[in-house]
Amino acid sequence: MMNTIGAAIIGCGAIAPLHARAIDAMEGARLVAVVDIDPVQAAQSAEDYGCEGLTDYRQLLERKDIAVVHLCTPHHLHAEMAVELLKAGKHVLTEKPMALDVPSALEMQAAAEAAEGQLGVVFQNRYNEPSVQIKAIIESGSLGKLLCMKGLVTWTRDADYYTGSSWRGRWATEGGGVLINQTIHTLDLLHWFGGGIASVKGSVTTDVLDEVIEVEDSAHACINFSNGVRGLFYGTNAYQTNSPVELELVFEQGTLQQRRDSLYLWQDGQETLLCGPQGSSTGGKAYWGTGHSRLIQDFYAHIREGCRFWIDGTEGIKTLELIAAIYRSSVSRKPVLQGSTPLASHGFSHLH
Ligand SMILES: NC(=O)c1ccc[n+]([C@@H]2O[C@H](COP(=O)([O-])OP(=O)(O)OC[C@H]3O[C@@H](n4cnc5c(N)ncnc54)[C@H](O)[C@@H]3O)[C@@H](O)[C@H]2O)c1
Repeated sequence: MMNTIGAAIIGCGAIAPLHARAIDAMEGARLVAVVDIDPVQAAQSAEDYGCEGLTDYRQLLERKDIAVVHLCTPHHLHAEMAVELLKAGKHVLTEKPMALDVPSALEMQAAAEAAEGQLGVVFQNRYNEPSVQIKAIIESGSLGKLLCMKGLVTWTRDADYYTGSSWRGRWATEGGGVLINQTIHTLDLLHWFGGGIASVKGSVTTDVLDEVIEVEDSAHACINFSNGVRGLFYGTNAYQTNSPVELELVFEQGTLQQRRDSLYLWQDGQETLLCGPQGSSTGGKAYWGTGHSRLIQDFYAHIREGCRFWIDGTEGIKTLELIAAIYRSSVSRKPVLQGSTPLASHGFSHLH
């Protein structure tokens, strides 16, 4: 019989139910405790999931019956919590972004390297069927070489979304706006598809919520990958609806387009549907994608088998570096070269 892995979730807000349901649906895993600094939230979630409710995550550190901890807290808390938990021997699965900025992410990475536990980052869109197929087509070379690609995210977040939150919209707690919170998944996909980055030129702006938030609500980037591929990116929270993310990848022998969560191949004057949208098994908003349960299952499978989970600190840091480069370039109005020190700390909030 399979040993049961005990789990805890810290932060019982919007995203926590997806984690709780994914743990519940997994054979050999049990949600032992939920933690929230708000006692009402902790008690309510404990009742909902039939587990213990705690208000201080440090109560998890000595618990022998909890091996995996899911971080579903605001961005500025990920690093501190992950470092403490990794030092205490826990496996940590953190929601995106891995941390508020690159230096904090590097601290997490160092703690993970020194620890027995694993550190995983929730980039669940890598598990979407279109993403899996795109990556396989790039790697197999079945459409020839990848030439260029674009990613477009046009979503809406109104003033209430920010004023109703204690941490969103501020540099100190969210670490940025649309780039680090909403479009980080698309930037992660572009990075995953394109590989190493040579240079990034980008800009950020607050088109609509200038009076409400410190951070940007819109951004663009021109990403030059080391293999010669150029990736164009535009993301905004200033649209008036949440449109499906659009991706296009142009290859020597055909073009892939992701529209409405379906993947199409355009080749020789004909369009073919490669895969359609998939239902969500864990609920949640459509624009969060359906990959949470698959990613969480895969994280636990890696723990069980004792092999390193593939979306680890290294992967989390790459995307944070890309975001830092866009902020930096927005200030300098120059391309930011990969490997140059500014990628480590964009200092955007201080430069404004
Ligand atoms: N992967 C995705 O698609 C996706 C979607 C939504 C949110 N997220 C991420 O999930 C994380 C949480 O976002 P959310 O929308 O659920 O936020 P939220 O504000 O709804 O919930 C955060 C919860 O953390 C609790 N909290 C704050 N400080 C705490 C502390 N010190 N100890 C314990 N609990 C504390 C709050 O009381 C709140 O209940 C963020 O990193 C966010 O970017 C990811």
